[in-house]
Amino acid sequence: MVSTNYPPGPGFRDRLRNPGLLRLTTHEFLQRNARTYGDLVHYKAFGRHVFQFNHPEMVQEILIRDAAMHHRGIVMQRAKFVLGEGLLTSEEPLHMRQRRLVQPAFHRQRITAYGETMLQFAGEMTERWTSGATFDVHRSMLQLTLRITGKCLFDSDVESEVQTISDSVTAFMGFLPLAFLPFPQLVLKMPFGFVQRIHKSQKKLDAMIYGMIAARRRSAEDHGDLLSMLLASTDIEGGTGGMTNQQIRDECLTLLLAGHETTANGLSFIFFLMAQHPEVLERVCAEANEAFASETSGALRTAAEIYDRLRYTQRVVSEALRIYPPVWVTARAVETSYVYRGLSIPTGSLLLVPQIAIHRDPRFYPEPMLFDPDRFLPEIAADRPRYAYFPFGAGSRICIGENFAWMEAVLVLATVARNWRLRFPDAAPKELALSAQISLRPKNGVVLSAIRR
Ligand code: HEM
Repeated sequence: MVSTNYPPGPGFRDRLRNPGLLRLTTHEFLQRNARTYGDLVHYKAFGRHVFQFNHPEMVQEILIRDAAMHHRGIVMQRAKFVLGEGLLTSEEPLHMRQRRLVQPAFHRQRITAYGETMLQFAGEMTERWTSGATFDVHRSMLQLTLRITGKCLFDSDVESEVQTISDSVTAFMGFLPLAFLPFPQLVLKMPFGFVQRIHKSQKKLDAMIYGMIAARRRSAEDHGDLLSMLLASTDIEGGTGGMTNQQIRDECLTLLLAGHETTANGLSFIFFLMAQHPEVLERVCAEANEAFASETSGALRTAAEIYDRLRYTQRVVSEALRIYPPVWVTARAVETSYVYRGLSIPTGSLLLVPQIAIHRDPRFYPEPMLFDPDRFLPEIAADRPRYAYFPFGAGSRICIGENFAWMEAVLVLATVARNWRLRFPDAAPKELALSAQISLRPKNGVVLSAIRR
C-alpha cells in the first residue's frame, strides 16, 4: 500500500525558530529534527516537500539504490550560474561522460605523485610561520590547499591569485543561500552590492582560467596534468571533436573551487581540535617523526610511503571529519514521483541526507561530541553500519577528490605536527562557531599561535 501519510517533522512555528529562515535549512535545524522526530522527517519549506533521512541504511537507499530517481538539489542547479556545467553541477548523461574524462587525474599513481607537492608546499608554508605569533589557520589553509590544487591539477602556481579566488568563493557563497528564490536570473540582474561582487568575481576568475587554457593551447606542451588531459580529450559521444573552451573552463573552475575549500575547512577543524587536544598532536608528532625518518640505506621515503605509515594520523583526520564534516548535508531533488518504503514522494521534493546529523548520532558514536580518534580503529569501526560515516558522499556522485583529500590532510597535519605545537591565544574555547552554507566552515576563522618545537 502506498501512503501519503507523511512522517513527523517540524511545523511552521519550528521553522520560524530556524535561525536560517531565509535559507532552506541550517545544520542546527537538521540535527534538532533528527533528535526530535527520528530517522525519517518531513516538513514543507517554500511550498516544497522536504524529506530528511537520518539513518545509515537510508544513506545507501537514497544516494545509491534510488539515485536514478533524483537529480542535483536546487542549490547545485543555481550554482550553475557560477560553475557552469562542471562535474559538481551537471546531470546525466553529461556528468558520467565528464567524470570518465577527469577520473585519470585522480588515479592512485597520480595521487602518489601529488603527495610530493603536498609535502613541499606544506613545508614551505610552515617555514614562513613565526614562533609564538598568532594567526588565522583557516586563512593559511585556504592559501595552502589552493596552491596545492593549482599545482597538482593545472601545473600552475596560483599563489598570487589566492586572494582573488578566496574573495570570489566568499562572494558566490553569499548568493547560494538565496537559491530558493524563484527567479535567480532576475536577482542576478539587480543592482545589489552582492550581485555586483559576484559578477566582478566571475570576471576575474574567468580571466584567470581562460588565460591558463589559452597559454596551454599555445604551448601545445603536454604537462601530464588534468588541464593537458582535458585539452587532449575528444568528446566522441558529443561528436564535437573536442571539449570547448567553455566546457574546459567549467571543469577547471569546479575542480579548483571544490578541490581547495572543503579540504581547507577540514584542515582548520583538525587544527582547532589539535589545539584542544595537545596530547593527540604529540602522538601525531611521534608517528610522523618515525614515518619521515629515512631508511637505514639513507634513501628518503616517498610521500606515499610516509602516508601508509601514518595510521594514527589517518584516524585523527577521520574523527575530525566525523565531528565537523566539511560537506554537512547532501541534497537531491526528486525527478518523478516515486514510492520509498511505502511512502509516496512527490515530484520536486527535496531530499536531505545530513552527514552532520548521522555522524553525531549517539547510536553509532556514543558521546558524539567527544573527540576520540580510536573510534576509527578497524576493529571498532567494523561494528558500525557502513554508511554511518560518509564525509565524501556515496554512489555515482561520490567525491572524485577523496583520495587526494586524504593524502593532503594527513600529510599537512603530519608536517605541522613534526615542528610545531598549537595553542589558543586565550582560554581554549569549548566550541567552534560554524557557518554552514554549501560547505561547513569555521565562522570566525581558527585563530591559534604556533610554537616551534
Ligand atoms: C575534505 C575534503 C573534501 C570533502 C569533505 C569532500 C566532500 C564531497 C562530497 C560529500 C561530495 C558529494 C556531493 C554530492 O553527492 O552531492 C563531493 C563531490 C565532489 N568533490 Fe569533494 N570533497 C573534498 C575534497 C575534494 C577535492 C580535494 C576535490 C578535487 C581536487 C574534490 C572535488 C569534488 C568534485 C569534482 C565533486 C563532484 C563529483 C561528482 O558529482 O561526480 N573534492 N565532495
